[in-house]
Amino acid sequence: MSSAKMKVEMDFGEKEFPMSHEDFQRIAGLAGRYTGIVLGDHKQDMVYGRIARRVRKLNLNDFSSYLDYLEANIDEELSNFINVITTNLTSFFRENHHFEYLQKTVLTELKRKNSATKRLRIWSAGCSKGMEPYSISMTLLKSGIPSDWDVKLLATDLDPEVLETAREAVYSATEVDGLEERTIKNYFQRGSGGKDVKVKDKVRQFIHFKRLNLLETWPMTGPFDFIFCRNVVIYFDKPTQKVLFDRYADLLDVGGYLFIGHSENLHGISDRFENMGNTIYRKIR
Ligand SMILES: C[S@@+](CC[C@H](N)C(=O)[O-])C[C@H]1O[C@@H](n2cnc3c(N)ncnc32)[C@H](O)[C@@H]1O
Repeated sequence: MSSAKMKVEMDFGEKEFPMSHEDFQRIAGLAGRYTGIVLGDHKQDMVYGRIARRVRKLNLNDFSSYLDYLEANIDEELSNFINVITTNLTSFFRENHHFEYLQKTVLTELKRKNSATKRLRIWSAGCSKGMEPYSISMTLLKSGIPSDWDVKLLATDLDPEVLETAREAVYSATEVDGLEERTIKNYFQRGSGGKDVKVKDKVRQFIHFKRLNLLETWPMTGPFDFIFCRNVVIYFDKPTQKVLFDRYADLLDVGGYLFIGHSENLHGISDRFENMGNTIYRKIR
């Protein structure tokens, strides 16, 4: 056995393509630079499985050839790289307590507070395949926001592939299993074979999907009434999170709400929010 092959087997066991530690470091460097996502050594198996898909698809022999290809063709290949690196897991009414709080507290308050402007500005940052902004939109409809209000819900993600799914608004019927029958009836139409559901136009009407990297400059000036950024920053390091939450605070009205993911918190990251419990925060300064 050649020493190069032996090294691969020692490091990673028998795998379809060789991936050296140096390859992994290069992947982690590119992921950090382009997405802010931190890939620790414990992510090597996950990274192997995901990047191997691209190596196979491009008929390459190993990871280092893929990385050379990626760097030489960054404009074409970057979105595929981002798509395999990011975790897009999401679902309708995920962490349902957020939608209950939104309906009972936040929207009740905003209906009063914004009654003169009749305006609502909302951002779903890291919206993945669209289930989060659609769930927000359904909550707006359930809350009886008057139809003459000017409501805009910006939904952004880094990954163009998930945004395509989000814009199409067609999902497997299994994705709505477990939702209340009333919700399914009011806000989805069933496809002819019964296998798919499509989000109704009245739910889609408020939403504008846009590609946006949270690490880059943002074209929006705000202010937003509330922002959802859930299950996105878990992959970022603390300094990146600090900058990001500061930028969210800048774009929120005082009293505006920020919803974050179940394993995230602002402790030691931002003092511009008060904790309302259940990973819900309110801007205080
Ligand atoms: C696990 S999903 C969360 C989806 C949804 N917010 C939820 O909680 O169900 C994380 C999303 O963040 C996006 N993302 C990761 N890094 C990003 C970045 N730097 N800028 C914008 N979006 C990013 C990913 O593409 C992915 O769709």
